[in-house]
Amino acid sequence: MPVQDPVVAEQTPAADHSIDQCWDRYTPEEHGVWDTLYKRQMKVLQGRAAPEHFKGLELLNLNEGGIPDFRRMNEKLEKLTGWTVIAVHGLIPNDVFFNHLANRRFVAGRFIRDADKLDYLPEPDIFHDVFGHVPLLTQPVFADYMQAYGKGGAKAAKHDMIENLTRLYWYTVEFGLINTPEGQRIYGAGIVSSQSESVFSLEGRSPNRVHFDLERVMCTDYRYDDFQQTYFVIDSYEELMEATAGQDFDPIYARLKGQPDFKASDIIDGEKVYTRGTQEYAKAGGLA
Ligand code: PHE
Ligand code: FE
Repeated sequence: MPVQDPVVAEQTPAADHSIDQCWDRYTPEEHGVWDTLYKRQMKVLQGRAAPEHFKGLELLNLNEGGIPDFRRMNEKLEKLTGWTVIAVHGLIPNDVFFNHLANRRFVAGRFIRDADKLDYLPEPDIFHDVFGHVPLLTQPVFADYMQAYGKGGAKAAKHDMIENLTRLYWYTVEFGLINTPEGQRIYGAGIVSSQSESVFSLEGRSPNRVHFDLERVMCTDYRYDDFQQTYFVIDSYEELMEATAGQDFDPIYARLKGQPDFKASDIIDGEKVYTRGTQEYAKAGGLA
């Protein structure tokens, strides 16, 4: 159990795996880690994060300093899009996760990483979950996408295709890029909350950048514990919504079933390629 947070450990989670954030019990050091990470990311994200990310931070007053209090943040968020954020104890089962999303509840870790391990994350902490994910939940189309995704969980489970649906989440919600008039920008939470991947994903020579395609993404392996080898780029959140919520996945799951997967580094004939990466980072062994 990598979570060292005593306020988490002492609680018995509810049936839906939620716990109390107990905001009053964060230490000054914990608030300090948030502030350090916040400042660091705001610097690196200038000219890199999608404008909607900055808009969301502002709408939720996340720049006030200190770890956000979910009670206050939720008042604002709920008014904007009907979403709320709840704290959970560690990783939760897929069906519980899907069910929360389907009901416009985003689950977040309570704990925050240690001050001396700012870049090391054994599992998502509150900085990743809140700074990374919550700002886009203020944006109506993205908010609807996340709910539709949650509702889609049951169908994927019925087809035994959860892994394929998870890849969609991974390559959009966590590691997505978006085209803007000013150039490509980051909207994926896994990138937005990481100083080094913010630069690597947009400017690195190593990774591929290709246009988003639903079935292609659902067939592509990903890196769980290192920088991605391929990033998928959308033109708009509407495009993402249209390609996913806009169609029935039953026939897609049936078609993809048993098909071989693409490797995380593959480029496919005929797809729209923005950058053909050198893959030098992965070839050199990545973080390992
Ligand atoms: N339309 C998908 C289905 O029929 C559900 C879904 C929506 C999945 C949005 C992902 C994102 O299963
Ligand atoms: Fe995440």
